Amino acid sequence: MQASSGSDGGTVTPWWRNTVCYQVYLRSFADSNADGVGDLDGVRSRLGYLELLGVDALWLTPCYRSPMADHGYDVADPRDIDPLFGDLAAFDALIAASHEHGIRVIIDLVPNHTSDQHEWFKLALSSPPGSPERDRYLFRYGRGGDGTMPPNNWPSQFGGPAWTRITETHGRKGQWYLHLFAPEQPDLNWSNPDVWADLETTLRFWLDRGVDGFRIDVAHGMAKPHGLPDADPAGFGLIDNGTGPDARFDHDGVHEVHRMIRSVVDEYPDRVLVGEIWVSDDERFGRYLRPDELHLGFNFRLTTTDFDAAELRTAIEHSMSAVAAVNATPTWTLCNHDVPRTVTRLGGGKLGLRRARALALVELALPGAVFLYNGEELGLPSVELPDSALRDPVWERSGHTRRGRDAHRIPVPWQGTSPCYGFTEGESSWLPMPEGWDELTVEAQLEDADSVLSLYRHALEIRRAHPGFEGDELEWYGAPEGCFAFRRPGGTLVCVLNTSPVDVPLPPGDPLIYSTPLTEEGLLPPDTAVWLS
Ligand code: GLC
Repeated sequence: MQASSGSDGGTVTPWWRNTVCYQVYLRSFADSNADGVGDLDGVRSRLGYLELLGVDALWLTPCYRSPMADHGYDVADPRDIDPLFGDLAAFDALIAASHEHGIRVIIDLVPNHTSDQHEWFKLALSSPPGSPERDRYLFRYGRGGDGTMPPNNWPSQFGGPAWTRITETHGRKGQWYLHLFAPEQPDLNWSNPDVWADLETTLRFWLDRGVDGFRIDVAHGMAKPHGLPDADPAGFGLIDNGTGPDARFDHDGVHEVHRMIRSVVDEYPDRVLVGEIWVSDDERFGRYLRPDELHLGFNFRLTTTDFDAAELRTAIEHSMSAVAAVNATPTWTLCNHDVPRTVTRLGGGKLGLRRARALALVELALPGAVFLYNGEELGLPSVELPDSALRDPVWERSGHTRRGRDAHRIPVPWQGTSPCYGFTEGESSWLPMPEGWDELTVEAQLEDADSVLSLYRHALEIRRAHPGFEGDELEWYGAPEGCFAFRRPGGTLVCVLNTSPVDVPLPPGDPLIYSTPLTEEGLLPPDTAVWLS
């Protein structure tokens, strides 16, 4: 069974405060029924691997009923499993088996929008303007004499306008509805009490089934500004590049929603809420982590920072101070299903891999919760696919100007020397897997002491057991140009990073683990990190 929250000098430390959580992008993790798409039984069949890797928890991307316009983030029924992924029995079996392996399970929750195939939206379309059915979404009349212009100037995160005009039941063009993402993902109206009540029902449905928490999708969405006014287009980001203040997101009313979610979750012991919060201002970010809101919030700074010690240090300091102001726990991630793989982002090839290994050691030395993305522990790169293979709605919505996120979602290679590398027993996988990944498979890396997988396993083992990881703060040391070194004041472990082009001497201490071997003289080579004890 899982270790429960630990005791720390009389006060109980909740398990999630230093958890290592592994993101399972369900479609791409493991396929049990040869249809080329990953599923719940596939995840269950690989729990032994995850235990061996040494993670504490899983975050499972959406498995709800969905027409899959956005691969499950368009939810048609939030209280049932899509047949593509299995059924409720398969879900229950996965939860039970995960717990037997000592692994907790966090599931995705999508409160900002539903699918256009959700019963509510179908009812909204068949009901007249101004009806209670329409009020659960954000329907408005268009602008211009005959309403042919969208109600405001907001773009969708995937490209194109954030509004789609419907045809009313009498056959004439009518109102428009808001969708911050695809047209198949209408935004809910969080001023409507039905929307609140339904989310509460959904929360309890899954909590009662034993989930250990929720990852809240677009946690900075939900609340919309009064009157839905036009905004300065300079502030609009897109799903793959938006980090600045954006008029469509982060409205104060959203905190009321998080307080409701928290109050429900608090009725169940030991559960966690982690928000997807694309908010760059530290103070505004911290608001989501006040004591009656979310426990954890993804800070995405490390997914966009260059491999440069000074810039990385700034990113780490911002992430720490954003949460320190509200006494919350930092939450680190290097990549996920929406952003480029670390190896590719940091230069690709051998250089990218070397830097990704170094950054992994930096991340795993930091205080707080860490989220790994499936395949990160294998050093997978992003893979550019031919146009005909692209499946992300971003590709179509952007008029084929942005390729979207498929490159970062290629299925996990498990074994063998040719596609689909044990991911599926079917002939093909939903996104094609490249030739030449035979050295990246789990099978190839498991017994190889120099592999990325071995680096992660070893680092996770040390992180779990070594007393040097005590303490929630960081103390920075003076370090040569292009380098940094930090320590947790409560512990003894020192992490040193060298992003400069030259070998550098190390402070005193025994190397516990390094991302690339030290030189014969014991110097730290370029693009390398080491933990010293
Ligand atoms: C989040 C998800 C992303 C999805 C979007 C809309 O950003 O991570 O994959 O497309 O929300 O639900």
